[in-house]
Amino acid sequence: MEKPKVYVTRMIPKAGIELLRTVADVEVNPDDRPLSRAELLNAVSECHGVIGLLTEKIDAEFFDAAPRLKGYANYAVGYDNIDVAEATRRGIPVSNTPGVLTDATAECAWALLFAAARRVVESDRVMRSGSWSGWGPLQFIGAGVRGKTLGIVGAGRIGTAMALMSRGFDMPVLYTSSSNRKNTVLEDRLGARLVPFDTLLAESDFISIHTPLTPATRHLFDAKAFSRMKRSAYLVNTARGPVIKEDDLVAALRAGEIAGAGLDVYEAEPAMADGLAGLDNAVVLPHVGSATIESRTDMATLAARNLAAMLAGQRPETCLNPQLFDRNNGTTA
Ligand code: GLV
Ligand code: GLV
Repeated sequence: MEKPKVYVTRMIPKAGIELLRTVADVEVNPDDRPLSRAELLNAVSECHGVIGLLTEKIDAEFFDAAPRLKGYANYAVGYDNIDVAEATRRGIPVSNTPGVLTDATAECAWALLFAAARRVVESDRVMRSGSWSGWGPLQFIGAGVRGKTLGIVGAGRIGTAMALMSRGFDMPVLYTSSSNRKNTVLEDRLGARLVPFDTLLAESDFISIHTPLTPATRHLFDAKAFSRMKRSAYLVNTARGPVIKEDDLVAALRAGEIAGAGLDVYEAEPAMADGLAGLDNAVVLPHVGSATIESRTDMATLAARNLAAMLAGQRPETCLNPQLFDRNNGTTA
């Protein structure tokens, strides 16, 4: 029997590719660069399965270009790049990679929090420039973390993990929830409080964003939100760039309306808003939240297992449209 054809839009850790090769003919984008839209649509035209990236729009045009598609596996937990409703309408299962990058992303948020609070990158730049004049009592004074209030915007898996890691620093924790649902893990283990967004803005010393990008969270952090934050507060974003109105953030950082920011994601990646690169009170990373060897390997094998299941007409482990499988006991028609 001929094996199904699979396309992987960018090289991923080879554990995933090897696993897929046991069930499919696998072709991988040979160049370590993103495909153009035309290249992507052309590459998937004969494919039964695709593993793709958060930088690719998986929409009606994509599905039209891949008429044989039996499944699409996102190499990411965030899936704002996928038109899930359109996939479902066409009966095409789609999956993401939740769980396996939770700790990596939460740890990245802490790295940004400390880097911003203790001015790590700014100080590193001075050391390298050779301009450090020796120890000084007023140099590079930052903000302490212990006992400060941590605000978690979006207490899902990653937000919960990030908050639990605050235990070493005895931080009161506030959180918001789009569904207004209590997070019993955070409440029981940390005494965290579910609060309205405005309360979180007003009371937090550090705010970490972990909400998915949806119409409701786009530009959640704008000039109005920054004006409600403490002038001593720091903002960390490892979720999705458009949750912050980046021009407004630049203005707030410049005016000292908030103390600093640690960013891993941007509104129009790979670009940054004008002015951001010149601000010493912003720490900026190139979207590396999940970039640990453990997470990236586990993301590759999970995406591969998901796609293998979909090719076999079975429900993938982490399915975004599981209702496709509910009607007929776990297999597609
Ligand atoms: C990365 O941004 C992801 O969603 O996995
Ligand atoms: C989001 O999907 C999360 O894992 O927190």
